[in-house]
Amino acid sequence: MRPLLETLFARRAQAVIPPPVGAEIAGAVPVVTSFTFGLADPRLFPKADLARATAEVLAEDGDAALNYGGTFAGLIEVVQQLMRARGVEAQPENLLIGYGSGQILGLLPQVFVEPGDVVIVEGPTFMGAVSRFAAAGARLISIPVDGEGMVVDRLEEVLRELARQGIPPRFIYTIPTFHNPRGCTLSWPRRQKLLQLAAEYSVVVVEDEAYYDLRFVGDPLPSLAALDKEGWVLHVGTFSKIVAPGVRVGWACGHPEIIRRLEMFRSEGSLGPFLGRVVARYCGEGRLESHIQLLIRRYREKCHLMLEAIAQCFPPEVKVEAPGGGFFIWCELPPPLSANTLL
Ligand SMILES: Cc1ncc(COP(=O)(O)O)c(C=O)c1O
Repeated sequence: MRPLLETLFARRAQAVIPPPVGAEIAGAVPVVTSFTFGLADPRLFPKADLARATAEVLAEDGDAALNYGGTFAGLIEVVQQLMRARGVEAQPENLLIGYGSGQILGLLPQVFVEPGDVVIVEGPTFMGAVSRFAAAGARLISIPVDGEGMVVDRLEEVLRELARQGIPPRFIYTIPTFHNPRGCTLSWPRRQKLLQLAAEYSVVVVEDEAYYDLRFVGDPLPSLAALDKEGWVLHVGTFSKIVAPGVRVGWACGHPEIIRRLEMFRSEGSLGPFLGRVVARYCGEGRLESHIQLLIRRYREKCHLMLEAIAQCFPPEVKVEAPGGGFFIWCELPPPLSANTLL
């Protein structure tokens, strides 16, 4: 790089450039299974139904689909139904549809973070989100996660200490269900405590529910958004894990003041009329629900196979936690084995 050019970049653009998400998929050797991201099984992508939905949209509504336009109202209705299943009656003003939940997570710092502001995250967590917060200059404070999700007692200590120092954290980023990469789900008492803390310390909770629908066992727990009576929770969802990541459609659901401000910084404008119509058409007539049921069956089988393989092949001292759903199985190596060294 020419040294002069480098000096023109804003400070946040001078950071080391992370590899693009999915970059390794493009050149992947098929026999290698990457555990780097929450990658769906391409054999489960609903290609035929998406092809049919695309043809129908072009045949019946092609002029509107291919013209300039706002987010398709039918897609907003689909997201309202998904939110209803998560216990939330969302109105259109509570919703923002974006190009994947990644776009929405990337917009959060624009709305909430000045360089040096504190953002609370989990440790470990989804780097795809947290690297965006860090790139905007957020000071990250990480709260440990165990088999029951974020350790909220530790969160309370941190919030108390920040309040004592007069530092208001901008938001708390959490993955309550089938955590990436911890596999765990935030327990019911911890959900209540987290919301109580959010209200007590006036801090927004961003709940990233990318895996919410992929539950293998038990009944779903209410989302934080469903339990939230005071508007502190911004719920983020995605079609990436229940349809396909390549469609790039996700959403945020929360207080209209937050939604409007996220929208302000979305330089691409609203979701394209073509994409919105195709996804909404695909999801109609119960297709999405039955596809989710298929995914649950297949991912449950894969999880069992993986757990069997781990039981057979890993040293018995490795601690393994079977997840209740989602894509991740958490293993802890016995000391002195180090994950970094093993990698
Ligand atoms: C927790 C979590 N949030 C968000 C995403 C990204 O979703 P999207 O494809 O909607 O940007 C992922 C993908 O791996 C994820 O694991």
